[in-house]
Amino acid sequence: MSRSPAAGAPRHRGAARAIIPPGAWLGLLGGGQLGRMFCMAAQSLGYKVAVLDPGTDSPAGSVADRHLQADYLDAGALADLAASVRAATTEFENVPAGALDYLARTARVTPAAASVAIAQDRISEKTFLAGHGFGVTRFAVLRSGSDARAVDPALVPGIVKSARFGYDGKGQIRVGSADEVVAAFEAMDRQPCVLEALVALGCEVSVIVARNDRGAVTTWPVAENRHRDGILDVSIAPARVPDMLADSARRIATEVAEKLDYHGVLCVEMFVTTDGALLVNEIAPRPHNSGHYTIDACVTSQFEQQARVLADLPLGDTRQHEPAVMVNLLGDIWFDAAAPATPREPDWTHVLRHPQAKLHLYGKAHPRRGRKMGHVTCLAPTIGEALAVAAAIKRDLGIPDAGAP
Ligand SMILES: Nc1ncnc2c1ncn2[C@@H]1O[C@H](COP(=O)(O)OP(=O)(O)O)[C@@H](O)[C@H]1O
Ligand SMILES: [Mg+2]
Repeated sequence: MSRSPAAGAPRHRGAARAIIPPGAWLGLLGGGQLGRMFCMAAQSLGYKVAVLDPGTDSPAGSVADRHLQADYLDAGALADLAASVRAATTEFENVPAGALDYLARTARVTPAAASVAIAQDRISEKTFLAGHGFGVTRFAVLRSGSDARAVDPALVPGIVKSARFGYDGKGQIRVGSADEVVAAFEAMDRQPCVLEALVALGCEVSVIVARNDRGAVTTWPVAENRHRDGILDVSIAPARVPDMLADSARRIATEVAEKLDYHGVLCVEMFVTTDGALLVNEIAPRPHNSGHYTIDACVTSQFEQQARVLADLPLGDTRQHEPAVMVNLLGDIWFDAAAPATPREPDWTHVLRHPQAKLHLYGKAHPRRGRKMGHVTCLAPTIGEALAVAAAIKRDLGIPDAGAP
């Protein structure tokens, strides 16, 4: 692969605020679909992107202008990246803080390692949120067997969640009694966990927020998220919640970004309880699956905004021009009952013929059940119509419907 032409360009110290003009190289840690969509958005603004990712089947690496295929802490690859790019960002929260800190010595890095560190760990995340007065589910920190034995019975029934590396419902055990809390903590190999009281969910929503170096903030319309087997199935935007609640959710997301002194794109996931309260569930220091609808339905997508913050360009307009329902495409639909061991490409003709559906595939060579392979955005004048399009597409592709929309 070619060397970056920006290698000899003037360096920008960590806090430098100059606009990084199109044509410059941007760096990305991580090679998944979020990174792929970031690459594409940055490239449409004229940037070149270098991706550091150890994977061979790398959705971002395969569209990047350059793919450094190495571990995130590989000294040579990091030095190479640092010498090549004017600014760097990440597409997943488990990126080692050391890699971001290293790059921050010579390049602009958004978000900062300190913000990422808070979101990497449920204990620091919940402590941060509760400490700043945001509503969260009642919780206890479990660091030892005695913590697990001493939990407040009011937190049960609840969910024991590992503090780190949980995603898509993994690293979680539901518990119905105090004894089960102890057993769940043991089953998690006594790694640090939180126990969260189960809340009665009206629905789940999320807000994508972007904040730049000068503190300017944009949020997108609230998305309403439905999960299947712990994985996001459908996002409906705008969420079918009262305007006042949507305004509160956007305000909360803005305040979370401000309290974190966050630079970049952040997702704030929230629970709407059956009595109408908003609780912050978790935050993701990057674009998010529930914000994919912004690509087709908004003036500026979450990925373009990530590039804009990174390059210190003006923030883009987040206005939504059409109601949208995003349907996730998991690897399951690459397998059919007749040949459950051999994946085959789904027949996309119906989706592609549909005037109100936009297909996005992530170019992953190896479909697996539960693996995010792509998504479809259904656009229509009303949410009801967009939901009907989504239902038709799900039926056609054999995606189970989780029940009434
Ligand atoms: N305290 C809770 N009460 C009720 N449902 C919950 C609670 N915590 C999590 N859930 C459900 O489990 C899902 C996954 O939990 P979450 O904490 O978001 O983990 P992750 O998305 O990292 O897997 C949530 O979207 C929600 O549907
Ligand atoms: Mg979640």
